Amino acid sequence: MALRQIMTEGEACLRKVCRPVDCFDASLAALLDDMAETMHDAQGVGLAAPQVGLLRRVVVIDVGDGVHDLINPVIVEQNGEQTGPEGCLSIPGESWIVTRPMHVVCNAQDRTGKAITLEGEGLLARAICHELDHLDGILYTDLTDTPVED
Ligand code: CO
Repeated sequence: MALRQIMTEGEACLRKVCRPVDCFDASLAALLDDMAETMHDAQGVGLAAPQVGLLRRVVVIDVGDGVHDLINPVIVEQNGEQTGPEGCLSIPGESWIVTRPMHVVCNAQDRTGKAITLEGEGLLARAICHELDHLDGILYTDLTDTPVED
C-alpha cells in the first residue's frame, strides 16, 4: 500500500464527472487500499477517487465502523434531515454548516463487482452524500454559505 497525494480545491480533477468502473481487477484493489491508507493517514472519514486525481466512481468511507469500499455508488433512498459542520480533505482547515439527509440507502459494488447495499444514519449518511458528490465534481462548499461559528 502507498499514500497518494490529495488534490486540493483549484485542481481541475475535483470538478469533473467521474466515469463508472467496469474492470474489477488488481489495480482497483490497490487503488482502494491506497485510498483507505491515505484517508486514515489524513484523519478523514471519507475519500473519493477524484481527490487522488483519478476520475473513477470509487469511494472509501470509514466513520469508525471499518472501511466501506463503494464502487459505482448510487443513493436510492434518503429521508430525514440533519444540519451540522462538515469538512473536506481537499479544502484543508475549513469547516462549513451543511444540511444533509439523516438516513440514506446506497447501492454500489464491492471490489469484486458484487452488488452491495450500504445503509447510513447520521455521520455515515453525511459521509456517503459528501463522497458521492465528489464523483460529480461537487464540493460541499457549493452547498452552503454558513461558516462554523467559533
Ligand atoms: Co471531500
